[in-house]
Amino acid sequence: MSGLDDVVAAETRLSEVDGLAGRLVICGHTLDELAQWRFEDVLALLLGDLVPDSAGLPARLGQARLRAFEQVRHIDAGLLSLSLIEGLRALMARLPDGEDAETALLLAAAPAVFVPALIRRQAGQPAIAPDSARAHAEDMLAMLAGADPSPAQIRALDTYLVTVSDHGLNASTFAARVVASTRAGFASAVLAALGALKGPLHGGAPGPVLDMLDAVGRPENARLWLEAALARGERLMGFGHRIYRVRDPRADALKGALQRLGAAGGLDADRLALAEAVERDALALLRAAKPGRPLETNVEFFTALLLEALGFPRQAFTGVFAAGRVGGWLAHAQEQVATGRLIRPQSRYIGPRAA
Ligand code: ACO
Repeated sequence: MSGLDDVVAAETRLSEVDGLAGRLVICGHTLDELAQWRFEDVLALLLGDLVPDSAGLPARLGQARLRAFEQVRHIDAGLLSLSLIEGLRALMARLPDGEDAETALLLAAAPAVFVPALIRRQAGQPAIAPDSARAHAEDMLAMLAGADPSPAQIRALDTYLVTVSDHGLNASTFAARVVASTRAGFASAVLAALGALKGPLHGGAPGPVLDMLDAVGRPENARLWLEAALARGERLMGFGHRIYRVRDPRADALKGALQRLGAAGGLDADRLALAEAVERDALALLRAAKPGRPLETNVEFFTALLLEALGFPRQAFTGVFAAGRVGGWLAHAQEQVATGRLIRPQSRYIGPRAA
């Protein structure tokens, strides 16, 4: 009971996570199919009830990026002293509440604007304004690097944002639904979700994958390093999943994106060779250590490599995750408002009895 495992807390038309089949379905489409789509097209699918004009959504999202950028002037020394995800939380908290399409689009656009701005300001560089005419992933990369991204880079970021856009009733999405059920508004729901995502047990995991690769250092060290980590009782970052029992379809989608990105897209060949050695040796060691329990590569392993290749620093990974998952949070908040009731479970008192 402590983790609410197996408790069905909502009915949703948004996504289905089938752990036994290794399948993720979003609004009737498999992830394998959606991994070829642009983020704004999946957002249109998720927010279809709120924004029925899907053809007009990309332009409205571009306008929303411009409106979000107005908040960037509030990045001051105090905000820059926070971690990147705390800075993102502070900027998101400035956005107004509401339950309408414009509020939803502003919130959907904002993390893609705030994350590059915070990265650049933390590095002592000026933030770059959005270009509403660009596609969403393209603009996010342009705001990060100050240069035109290549089609391969844009496609890779789109695949990432789509891959993480929704995933059943995960902790942050549940938090969004609880807050939305009080009718507090979408900004409050997204802020609660972002707070949940920040935790290392949820959205904070891909950074440690890179820490592991750095510690291993060279492909030939992988086996010994991983054996020693397992002998110390440590978990290997980027492997295993609570729900997926055969494969994590998100890992497959991101591995494909990484292979397509290649050296021309910024993927370092030595880094990839190291990652491949770590993956190969980790899977072999985990199979030997837990023969009855399939432990496969999970989404975090390839997220780390992909976001690093696209030029995002590891402290920004959770913020980039938010730029994709915000689509799911908003869709669930909207669905909760439209179809749900106030979420108010019971607790069982186990404290001392009053005299
Ligand atoms: N490395 C070593 N051993 C592992 C790993 C791992 N990555 N994953 C599971 N195991 C072991 C467990 O210790 C357990 O051993 P035991 O039976 O001797 O206690 C056994 O395999 C079975 O574990 P599960 O029940 O499958 O694991 P659980 O569901 O509790 O945890 C989790 C899932 C948290 C993802 C786990 O696999 C893990 O810690 N992985 C590493 C961290 C990671 O990659 N996190 C990101 C996950 S993706 C995401 O959340 C978006």
